[in-house]
Amino acid sequence: MERTYIMIKPDGVQRNLVGEIIKRFEQKGYQLLAMKLVRPGKEHLQAHYADLAGKGFFNGLIEYMNSGPVVAMVWGGFNVVAEGRKMLGATKPSESAPGTIRGDFAVEVGRNICHGSDAVASAEKEIALWFKEGVCEWNPSRNAWVYEN
Ligand code: GTP
Ligand code: MG
Repeated sequence: MERTYIMIKPDGVQRNLVGEIIKRFEQKGYQLLAMKLVRPGKEHLQAHYADLAGKGFFNGLIEYMNSGPVVAMVWGGFNVVAEGRKMLGATKPSESAPGTIRGDFAVEVGRNICHGSDAVASAEKEIALWFKEGVCEWNPSRNAWVYEN
């Protein structure tokens, strides 16, 4: 099963959007495979965003991500990496369509409330980084109502 790493950033937690964001992934038909509320520290956040290390906003991004707890989650299902990104909306909330999470709840790129893996390979890397303990294997009984086969 395809898996993605979805994270509710500190602003999403502080703004009480945890339930709303989980609700959207649950209602879509995706399967929750792992979830925790954590403050991982700067080194871990720098590893997560290592690809952006040269950017001018990098230090601000790490400060923002380190400013409070985040909700780390793994979701599974058909095409969940690309669909998950669609559900989050464009990186810049000003370009995110209404109906997306960022389009509905965020205003600025530096406070865009959620993260989603951008490819299957990066999803697996991020899952390994955030869930060293592994994820939960289970068979949702509703799957026959979500998938044809
Ligand atoms: P994530 O799902 O968080 O990885 O966002 P993304 O994949 O849509 O964008 P990207 O990986 O390029 O950037 C990661 C995060 O850095 C964004 O979600 C923003 O929080 C932040 N970011 C990206 N571009 C800017 C920017 O121009 N200014 C600021 N302040 N933050 C930015
Ligand atoms: Mg990204």
